[in-house]
Amino acid sequence: MAGYKILVLHGPNLNLLGQRDPGVYGTRTLQDIDQMLTKRASELKAEVESFQSNSEGALIDKIQQAYSDVDGILVNPGALTHYSYSLRDALSAAALPLVEVHLSNVFSRESFRHHSVISPIADGMLCGLGADSYILGLEALLKIIKNQRS
Ligand code: DQA
Repeated sequence: MAGYKILVLHGPNLNLLGQRDPGVYGTRTLQDIDQMLTKRASELKAEVESFQSNSEGALIDKIQQAYSDVDGILVNPGALTHYSYSLRDALSAAALPLVEVHLSNVFSRESFRHHSVISPIADGMLCGLGADSYILGLEALLKIIKNQRS
C-alpha cells in the first residue's frame, strides 16, 4: 500500500475527547487517536493528515483543499453525521473512497443518532469500538483503495 495518503476528519466537539463523557467516548484524547492512526498508517506504508474543526464550513473547506492530494477520507463527523447535507455534499463531490467512524455505538443511543446522512455515500461505517473504530476504519479504507486500484 505504498504511499497512500489519507485525510482524517474529526468533527465538532471531538477536540474534547478524554474529558468529554468518558463513559461514552473513552479516555483517549484526540491526540492519542491521531498518534495511533499515524503509527498504524506507517506500518501499512501509508500516511495520514488529521484535521479537527468545530465548524462545518472549515471541514468543508479542508475537503475542498485536500481532496485532489489524498487517496481516501476517514471521517468522524460528530453530530454533523445526523444532519449536515453540506458536509455530505462536500464528501460526495470529493468522490474518494470514504469510511465513516464513530467511537460510540450510535444505535444504542438517542434516536436522533440512529440516522446518518453520511452513511449512504460512504463505502462503509464502523461504530461502537472506541478508538479501534478509527484504526479498523483506516485498515478498511486502505484495503478499499488497494482493491480499487488492482
Ligand atoms: C460520535 C457520535 C455522534 O452522535 C456524536 O454527536 C459525536 C461523536 C462518536 O464518535 O461516537 O460527537 O460521532
